Amino acid sequence: MTSTYRIAPSILSADFARLGEEVKSVIAAGADWIHFDVMDNHYVPNLTFGPMVCEALRKHAVKADGTKVPIDVHLMVQPVDALAQAFCKAGADRVSFHPDASTHVDRTLQLIQAEGCQAGLVFNPATPLDVLEWVIDRVDLVLIMSVNPGFGGQSFIPSALGKLEKARRIIEASGRDIRLEVDGGIKVDNIREVAKAGADTFVAGSAIFGKSDYASVIAAMRAELARA
Ligand code: DX5
Ligand code: ZN
Repeated sequence: MTSTYRIAPSILSADFARLGEEVKSVIAAGADWIHFDVMDNHYVPNLTFGPMVCEALRKHAVKADGTKVPIDVHLMVQPVDALAQAFCKAGADRVSFHPDASTHVDRTLQLIQAEGCQAGLVFNPATPLDVLEWVIDRVDLVLIMSVNPGFGGQSFIPSALGKLEKARRIIEASGRDIRLEVDGGIKVDNIREVAKAGADTFVAGSAIFGKSDYASVIAAMRAELARA
């Protein structure tokens, strides 16, 4: 399995009036990726930010030594294709979408990769993993939702553990280097169990931005992961 864990703070729970500073602070606190939740008030009942905000944040998503920090775009939009391409052009490194929101999943994956981005598929709590069988050769990332998409601060849905185990088996069988990310309700007190189920990349919004000391939360998460 891809052995190194990644922590991807979701800026959905950051202070929107200070997004650039928040991105810099959470990177200084140890974030590996910046998770960018795009909601359209159509696929999900909430509305966030678009490609122009991604472009504005791109220059802030850099470590002190100048290393670029990946922007992990999670599209909760329908239709998908035009926005997926716009986010690639706006500096995203990974663009993930919900297969049930795209009419032609294979085509959308190709469009994202043709823009030079990694492409991911996102599975809601009640969505089966079936499509993976047919597009696993094109997928760079699988994202398992452990809440219903649309809002931060919800509770982890336990059936995500079984789905992570299943997704891990599919990824291992493919022999490909595919990240297995989990999103929703991830906290210091459940991250180890979620890692044991197979996740290697952890989105956390309210757990990190809800505390004043981001670094201590990220350090506590890493300490838990070291015991997984
Ligand atoms: C929900 C988003 C999540 C959200 C997670 O639709 O995809 O990324 O920010 O928030 P927490 O970590 O607070 O559950
Ligand atoms: Zn997300």
